[in-house]
Amino acid sequence: MTTFLSGIQPSGQQHLGNYFGAIRQHIASQEVEGEHYFFIADYHALTTTRDAEQLRENVRELAVTYLALGLDPERVVFFRQSDVPQVLELTWLLATVTGMGLLERAHSYKDKLAKGIKPSVGLFTYPVLMAADILAYDATDVPVGKDQVQHVEMTQDMAGYFNGTYGEVFVIPKARIPEREKLAKVPGLDGEKMSKSYGNGLWIFEEGKALKKRIGRILTDSRPPEEPKDPDGVLLLDFLSLFLDAEELGEWRERVRAGGAQAPGYGHLKARLIEAVDEHFGPARERRRELLADLGEVERILEQGAERARERAAATRDRAYRACGLRG
Ligand code: ADP
Ligand code: TRP
Repeated sequence: MTTFLSGIQPSGQQHLGNYFGAIRQHIASQEVEGEHYFFIADYHALTTTRDAEQLRENVRELAVTYLALGLDPERVVFFRQSDVPQVLELTWLLATVTGMGLLERAHSYKDKLAKGIKPSVGLFTYPVLMAADILAYDATDVPVGKDQVQHVEMTQDMAGYFNGTYGEVFVIPKARIPEREKLAKVPGLDGEKMSKSYGNGLWIFEEGKALKKRIGRILTDSRPPEEPKDPDGVLLLDFLSLFLDAEELGEWRERVRAGGAQAPGYGHLKARLIEAVDEHFGPARERRRELLADLGEVERILEQGAERARERAAATRDRAYRACGLRG
């Protein structure tokens, strides 16, 4: 039986880059045969967020975003990390078999130090918590981006140390990296990579005037529509390529390339993009509004997920406690 598990840190409103580069794949994965666990890593978020209201808001926003975009809580055990106390119990057990050297080699820790972030003990032991997240549910497959692969390898090491010391308690998981060609790289409004930290993003649920204004900001130049252009150099076409089918995209590209009286101006491309965004995200915007009007329902979904998660994690915790002598 394949058990998929992944987690995401709550980091505020998600943009098109997050959607096409991560969220869409997370949600599509529920179609694959197997068990699915997906959680909001709020304990991990505490290593970088110190604002209580902001954290609450980010967790709510992320839960609503995933549910609105189609995550199905019947098929996926969807929960909040901090609702499963067994994960912290396992974190301690793993910490006692993990050498300092392993954690000192973590790239993400070294990167954060290099950026001048003052490390807390929590930041240093972050990979141990992540290992507990994975091992608690006997996950076999962990879909993650490239930046998290080392953490999954460290999880394999930690599970190996524990199993080597106390017997076969933990299932050894493997990372699943999405094929690169399936991952769209989404440009920002300025043509650089779309990113929260560059302020060049387009929020997934933007609509109406605000959407029009954001799309209006997509970088263009002053060449007239009649002038033939290389479609690869037209940023608006990159945006359209995220939404249009190959046939329609091909037509727009051809018209841009040919120039002349039939060529679309940037205004036309922007209008088509607004329409395409509305079509793509319209139903999800509706669901989001419904969920926001009934946050009790969102809470119930997370609580139900947490119950299922706790059951599984408690069984693993009991196994581990017995193996190391904390219980008979
Ligand atoms: P941000 O800080 O901009 O939200 P993160 O670096 O936290 O982005 O990434 C969160 C997830 O979204 C990762 O899986 C990352 O690969 C994906 N992602 C972020 N920006 C983009 C982008 N511009 N194009 C494709 N994927 C992206
Ligand atoms: N550290 C991951 C990130 O920042 C989030 C995460 C926490 C995670 N625990 C996990 C991902 C377990 C996969 C499995 O993106």
